[in-house]
Amino acid sequence: MTEQVIQMTDLQKQFDKQLVLRGINLNVFKGEIVGLIGPSGAGKSTIIKTALGMEKADGGQALVLNTKMPNRELLGRIGYMAQTDALYDALSGRENLEFFGQMKGLKKSAMQPAIAHVAAVVDLEADLNKRVSGYSGGMQRRLSLAIALLGDPELLILDEPTVGIDPALRRKIWAELHKLSANGHSVLITTHVMDEAELCSKVALLLDGRIMAFATPTDLKKQYGVQTVEDAFLKAEGEL
Ligand SMILES: Nc1ncnc2c1ncn2[C@@H]1O[C@H](COP(=O)(O)OP(=O)(O)OP(=O)(O)O)[C@@H](O)[C@H]1O
Ligand SMILES: [Mg+2]
Repeated sequence: MTEQVIQMTDLQKQFDKQLVLRGINLNVFKGEIVGLIGPSGAGKSTIIKTALGMEKADGGQALVLNTKMPNRELLGRIGYMAQTDALYDALSGRENLEFFGQMKGLKKSAMQPAIAHVAAVVDLEADLNKRVSGYSGGMQRRLSLAIALLGDPELLILDEPTVGIDPALRRKIWAELHKLSANGHSVLITTHVMDEAELCSKVALLLDGRIMAFATPTDLKKQYGVQTVEDAFLKAEGEL
């Protein structure tokens, strides 16, 4: 049997009286790229934060790498990129990468080659020695992604990683994600870009805290009788 890297069972979350996750069942298997798509406010970031233990679930459970989160020991095996960048403004891009690399337990001898690799994936080599306070929004996004990729984690959890990133670089980033997946790494990714949904192994359509469909892009299109994932999404929303 293929290994499960994320397993959510009837996961529920509410904020005040608002039910935000209404029983989420979602599994990610080793080597899969699972895309979470849904309108703003559907609960995508909440699914991720609750699975990672950054928010406490009000029902059900989530296991990540067979472990209940949060768990500090797993942090080195997971690359997480939040929707909001959490970077040290006064430090350079390289210093940020060194800091997070140390947190992930990267050895000193491995640090610079690892930084060179992730900086190349996000085209940030030329700007590594600049202070982050002088980075554009897209550059900060790219640095956050580079940090998530650092240390070759077996699981990547990326919340809107390609916002503000131009199409050519987006393509390069997806090539890297496919390479990682071919090597047995797993990815859970949220996106608003429907072209990206087509590139996932499976797509979960989230509406109002519920998963309306969870299938390969091909099956999803078949299920809704449409040509694109975007149309499947619009049909699920009742807009088509
Ligand atoms: N800390 C919080 N306190 C109160 N309400 C919250 C909190 N975090 C999220 N919510 C609410 O939960 C709902 C889902 O939010 P979430 O951030 O998960 O949506 P999303 O699908 O990630 O949206 P987006 O595409 O805009 O990032 C929203 O109604 C939001 O207002
Ligand atoms: Mg979000």
